[in-house]
Amino acid sequence: MKPGFILANLLLLTLLFSCSSKESEEKLETDAELVAKEFFVVPGEDEAIDPEQIQKGEVLISYSDCYSCHKEESRAKGPSFTDIAKRYPIKQVYIDLLARKVIDGGSGVWGYPVMGPHPKLKFEETQAMVAFILSLEKK
Ligand code: HEC
Repeated sequence: MKPGFILANLLLLTLLFSCSSKESEEKLETDAELVAKEFFVVPGEDEAIDPEQIQKGEVLISYSDCYSCHKEESRAKGPSFTDIAKRYPIKQVYIDLLARKVIDGGSGVWGYPVMGPHPKLKFEETQAMVAFILSLEKK
């Protein structure tokens, strides 16, 4: 092999290497974007929710296991309640959707592992809980 050929190959390799390392940097960026999806906010206007339902939800949550995975202000095993409040408008459709999810359990929305199911809770109870969560101050 001619030395020139080896040199050209080396050059090619270096080029390839620098390209691929650039690529993985870009990939890291998109992964970070995926994580930032956590702050994705669902658009929509708030609806008026019965304050009694909100109060009932607060009590129910304190008697359930929610606080073993959620904190009001900061992340724990699950997203913080205020982050959830920031994400969804207070609308009956989202209350129903999330209330169903609390009963069934689920994953995949926040990049956290799994929320276990709560089959013993009634739909109207989880609706009240979610109404309370969504009513938390939106910053
Ligand atoms: C075992 C830990 C755990 C417990 C207990 C738990 N959660 Fe969760 N919760 C999670 C995780 C993890 C997520 C994120 C799920 C996801 O990314 O889809 C979550 C997400 C949520 C969400 C947002 C769902 C969404 O799709 O945006 C609500 C609302 C919620 N939890 C309410 C509750 C309520 C109310 C209780 C108590 C009845 C509760 N959680 C108990 C771990 C838990």
